[in-house]
Amino acid sequence: MEPKWLGQCPSCRTWDSFAREMEQPKIPTAATTPASSRPVSLGEVETVSGGRQSTGSAELDRVLGGGLREGMVVLVGGDPGIGKSTLMLQCLSHLAGACPPVLYLSGEESARQLKLRAGRLGIGGKSSEGLLLHTETCLERILPWVEEIRPRAVVVDSIQTFRTERVNSTPGSLVQVRESTALFSRLAKERNIPLFLVGHVTKSGTLAGPRMVEHMVDTVLYFEGREGQGYRILRAVKNRFGSTNEIGVFEMTGRGLKEVENPSALFLSERPLDQPGSVVVPCLEGSRPILVEIQALVAPTPFSQPKRTALGVDGGRVALLAAVLEKKMGLSLSGHDIYLNVAGGVRVSEPGADLGIALALASSLLDRVIDSRTILLGEVGLAGEVRNVARPELRLAEAAKLGFERAIVPRRAAQNGKKDKAGKGLELWGVDYLKDALRKGLGKG
Ligand code: TYD
Ligand code: MG
Repeated sequence: MEPKWLGQCPSCRTWDSFAREMEQPKIPTAATTPASSRPVSLGEVETVSGGRQSTGSAELDRVLGGGLREGMVVLVGGDPGIGKSTLMLQCLSHLAGACPPVLYLSGEESARQLKLRAGRLGIGGKSSEGLLLHTETCLERILPWVEEIRPRAVVVDSIQTFRTERVNSTPGSLVQVRESTALFSRLAKERNIPLFLVGHVTKSGTLAGPRMVEHMVDTVLYFEGREGQGYRILRAVKNRFGSTNEIGVFEMTGRGLKEVENPSALFLSERPLDQPGSVVVPCLEGSRPILVEIQALVAPTPFSQPKRTALGVDGGRVALLAAVLEKKMGLSLSGHDIYLNVAGGVRVSEPGADLGIALALASSLLDRVIDSRTILLGEVGLAGEVRNVARPELRLAEAAKLGFERAIVPRRAAQNGKKDKAGKGLELWGVDYLKDALRKGLGKG
């Protein structure tokens, strides 16, 4: 081997016989790598105690998948003013009593403002001694304090207001949010501290910046609510340590967020009884059954192009069900405007609500009432067949608990329900096709 090309081989004297050969890079050996990057056997791995710390709120615990874990990084997103800071302060105040000290890093409000809010929430006295506030927003100046204090939980409110000197960019910019999140998360993982990152949502409904960091955190929670309405829904859209689509329901009161133990009762509280177009559907949010009212208004249209408006359900789904009603049931919806609304600002995204939507449309069109003690459950296929849904027994039990008397359900759910005595006290009416459901629900043959 020669370090450079030679025309003639010095040993055998042939010309132009040299070929280029690259030296293979050396594979690093175990001896040259640091001990920290050594593989470990599964048995050697130390699990963080595995236990869950309650946040003091059963609703928040539920969406977290059973409480906080050590080193868990949670992103809490939502519109400004929805109640993120309130939720965080209430949660930290509980943790300050249960496992002090805890640290609230506020980049938006002064310590005085926080104190005022705490006063409103009735937080104070002994437990507030373990709740430390810091209004510094530069990470390099915060991290030494975290090392010093060794808090048992940290809230960063909001991630858009913090900055690290590692990147030269304004707070709230994408790079800053990403770098700050990375630094905070590393801290959480290395020190086993549960960490909440609060993030604001922009008008378009996306988390500016924080959306980009969803993949860097363990759990993403969204705080939702309709303007002018007192209650708030906390939804898990990602959870490495639990199931997604769990929801927590809160009510914003003059003294902070209160848990709503029975959301079904709340969502049905203003329901008009025995009105055409109004039906009740037992939806499943995560593992939790929730009864919601679906309202339809179908009216002859003065326009050449009928209006189709759906709030809280997918418009495509409504169009599909309208088409099935038209084709299979001979109901003429094409000359009508259709308005569909899930009362109370709830969002329904599962096919189990199909039967309810279809019957609400038919009920309004025909001006016939569906008995207000009846609930409807089932997915509707393009052939007009009614299909079974996930966990009917949970939903039926919830309906029975709230005093409903009758359920129109897929035949299989009715058979299983009768066997297992699901929804005791409910009369189960099994159906195979939409037309059976219409006959049973509306008395239409
Ligand atoms: P906040 O937690 O500041 O929202 P975010 O951090 O998401 O921006 O909540 C602010 C709103 O909540 C504000 O409109 C006032 C209202 N609020 C109450 O109604 N009751 C209360 O006890 C508190 C603390 C706030
Ligand atoms: Mg806030």
